[in-house]
Amino acid sequence: MTKLKRVHSRKHCVKRRIFIHSLWFFALLYPIMKYMGYAVPRKPVFVKITTPMPQAGFLLTSGFILFDKDDKCWALSRKCTHLGCKIHYSETRKILECPCHQSQFDHVTGKVIKGPAERSLTQLPVEKRLNSPYYVVTT
Ligand code: FES
Repeated sequence: MTKLKRVHSRKHCVKRRIFIHSLWFFALLYPIMKYMGYAVPRKPVFVKITTPMPQAGFLLTSGFILFDKDDKCWALSRKCTHLGCKIHYSETRKILECPCHQSQFDHVTGKVIKGPAERSLTQLPVEKRLNSPYYVVTT
């Protein structure tokens, strides 16, 4: 083997070694970042509500509950902050309640009234419009 081929072969071997070490680095980095709570931010989803608001002043969807009362509109996520069950709205008691462990949340602010949940419900930005779609909720 000529000297030139040996040098070329050694360079190729070093590049491959660096590549393999990089793979190991990223393979170990991902679970560590996940453990530390890092998540890749997801793109916002715009949900268009094409029906006018019912007389009751609230609209339940699968992912959120939309309120439009007294010239003010807001949306709260229906995902319970305890273990993720789907929240229901009690119109008579004006609270959001989780059927799994009975956490209760304020229907305006989403703050916890009664545990075991400790964190408030996620508030979602709402854009109210005059024509269809009447509301655009960013989830
Ligand atoms: S999942 Fe909602 S209170 Fe436990």
